[in-house]
Order: sequence, then structure tokens, then C-alpha cells
Amino acid sequence: MLRVRKVTIDRPGGYDRLKIVDGKDPAPGPGEVAIDVEAAGVNFADCVIRMGFYESQKKLLGWPVTPGFEVAGRLSGGAPGAEVLAVTRFGGYASRVVVPEPQVFPLPPRLGIREAAGFPVIFLTAYYALCELAHPKPGATILVHSAAGGVGGAAVQIARILGARVVGVVGSSHKVPAVKADVVIDKSKEDLWAAARRAAPLGYDVILDANGAETLKESYRHLAPTGRLVAYGFHSMLRTREDGKVRWLPLLRSYLKTPRFHPIRMVNENRSLLCFNLSYLFAKQEILREAMGTLLGWLAEGKLQPPPVTAYPVAEVARAHRDLESGRTVGKLVLTFP
Ligand SMILES: NC(=O)c1ccc[n+]([C@@H]2O[C@H](COP(=O)([O-])OP(=O)(O)OC[C@H]3O[C@@H](n4cnc5c(N)ncnc54)[C@H](OP(=O)(O)O)[C@@H]3O)[C@@H](O)[C@H]2O)c1
Repeated sequence: MLRVRKVTIDRPGGYDRLKIVDGKDPAPGPGEVAIDVEAAGVNFADCVIRMGFYESQKKLLGWPVTPGFEVAGRLSGGAPGAEVLAVTRFGGYASRVVVPEPQVFPLPPRLGIREAAGFPVIFLTAYYALCELAHPKPGATILVHSAAGGVGGAAVQIARILGARVVGVVGSSHKVPAVKADVVIDKSKEDLWAAARRAAPLGYDVILDANGAETLKESYRHLAPTGRLVAYGFHSMLRTREDGKVRWLPLLRSYLKTPRFHPIRMVNENRSLLCFNLSYLFAKQEILREAMGTLLGWLAEGKLQPPPVTAYPVAEVARAHRDLESGRTVGKLVLTFP
């Protein structure tokens, strides 16, 4: 019998919780396919799962868990199968996965396997934030935090396709060349909000913020009338120690500093706040398929470029998490399976 190699986490904690184990080969049921995985995307959400703060995983799956929301490889079977990419609700850090057919897509000609493994989540997230929620009009001014990261980089590209003027923010200088925005703010070198006001004196139509407490309040304040703040993550809360364990005191301080939004005030200020979590979208397959259809179409037309990808052998999954949590990475990280 075939064995599957996968990463499992049996309880929350640091990098030592990421265990590589051999398990029984999963068999596809009706409407499912098996994929021999060559690469799996690494997302900040996977680190949040390891830390024990990912609500949908705790609610839907519990422990132990194999993280991973996206893979690329070949359809499993006798002869070498077709190359595909797929979105997975957890379980992607494995050499073989079983996925419902609607979540599987042919490998786009413009992507290598590693690029394909890192494509769906960041682009779906940015697409959902901009196209399903914020709906910027052509000519809108959009501020994207962490614009050299996975989701941030995808958001910059989609915002430009939608005809927006984009201001991208990065936390360190080595990331500046990676950001293809109209204006790039390096907050390690200049005051973020003074620079943001210079770039858009009338305020922003849309701001995408996954920082959390560090910037949410000011992001809201820098919206133009009718502006929309999309909050979709809280990474500035989740600082980890050298061993990957959460720093509880900064987490608590950051939690207490997280702004509370009052609907009466927001009506009077004529601004809105939109929030979402992609992992619940698996229940809405039609949105997922439509979004992937549009994204793969833009990719085929050359309107989207895959981000730079850094690959880690699966045995080095802890290093991948450590690097992502360092806040210094550019583009996308993936795990590779031999
Ligand atoms: N709601 C959803 O459905 C959904 C889906 C996917 C991702 N997300 C969220 O989107 C965000 C980006 O995810 P990603 O996978 O694409 O990661 P990423 O942007 O590639 O990496 C995270 C970036 O966040 C910034 N950062 C600020 N404080 C940080 C900290 N304490 N630890 C680590 N990074 C920090 C860093 O950029 P700068 O220093 O340049 O700002 C870093 O490069 C995450 O918060 C993730 O949870 C949400």
C-alpha cells in the first residue's frame, strides 16, 4: 500500500510541533480526485493554525491537523496524470491529497509547478477583498499594506487591473523593488501616515489591512468619504519567539489596542469596514469557481504575474514558517515534495 508523507501538528505551539509523518494513502470518494503533490503553498494562515488561533480549523477539524490550502502536482493514477493545481481546506502539506473535483484546475500554461502551488490563495484572497467586497471604481485610490507579501502583491496587481491608483506599503527597504504600485511607502524609512497623506490628500477609497492593531485605526481614519477598509488578518499581533512560540504579552497588548468600530459613528463618518475569511468560502463553491475562472483568465491574458517563489523541501517546513513569521520575505513560499 502507498504511504503518504505529510506534516501534522497535534497541538498548538512552536516550530517543533511541525512533525513529518508517514500515513495511510487517502482514497478518493465520489466526486473527488487524488493528486500526487509536487509543491504546496505556505500561507501565514498555516502559521496561525500552528499557533492555535485559527478559528475555522478548530471549529471544523480540531487536532491533529495537516495545514495547507493549496497544492500543485499530477492527478494520481496509473500513467502520469495531468498537471493540476487545487485549493484544499487544510491538508495541503502532504505528498498526496484527495480534493473535491470542483476545487481542481488544469495547470495554467504560464505557470511552473511551484508557481502554481503558490497561486490560488493569495490571488483568491486579494480578488475576494477587491472584487467581491470593496468594488473600487476605475480611478479609485487604494492603499495596500504589506504590498511585497503574498496577498499584498496579488492585491496590487488586481487593483491595477481594475484601473485603480495603488499605494503600496512595505516594512523594510529590500522589499521596495518588488512592489509594482504607483507609489511605494517604505515605513522603515519614513513616517507611514505622513507619506500616505502626501500620496492621497483626499483620503483612500479602499485600504487593505491585514496588520491588525498596528494600523487598523489609522487605516480607517485615512479613508475618504465612502471609503472601505477591508480587514482580513492580524499579523502584527502574532509575534513569535525564536522557537516559534507566541509572545503572549505583545499579543495581549495588541488585542487590547485593536480598535472597536461603532456603527452609529461609522454612518455619520460615511465609511465602512469589511471583513472576511476565505476558509469559510469553501461552502460557496460558485464564488470560488467564478473567482478562479476570472483569475486564470487574467493570467492567460498576461495581466497577472506569479510572484517570486522561494521553495523549501518539506523537511524544512519549520524554516519556511520561521521565515514567513520574520516578516522579511518577499512574494510566496512553497514546500516541495520529492
Ligand atoms: N482573511 C483571509 O481569508 C486571509 C486569506 C489569506 C491571508 N490572510 C492574511 O493575509 C496576511 C498576509 O498573508 P500572506 O500569507 O500573504 O503573508 P505575507 O504577506 O507574505 O507575509 C506577511 C507580511 O506581513 C508583514 N508583517 C507585519 N507584522 C508581521 C508579523 N508580526 N509577522 C509576520 N509578518 C508581519 C510583513 O510585511 P511588511 O513588514 O512589509 O508589512 C510580512 O512580509 C496574513 O495576515 C494572513 O493571515 C487572510
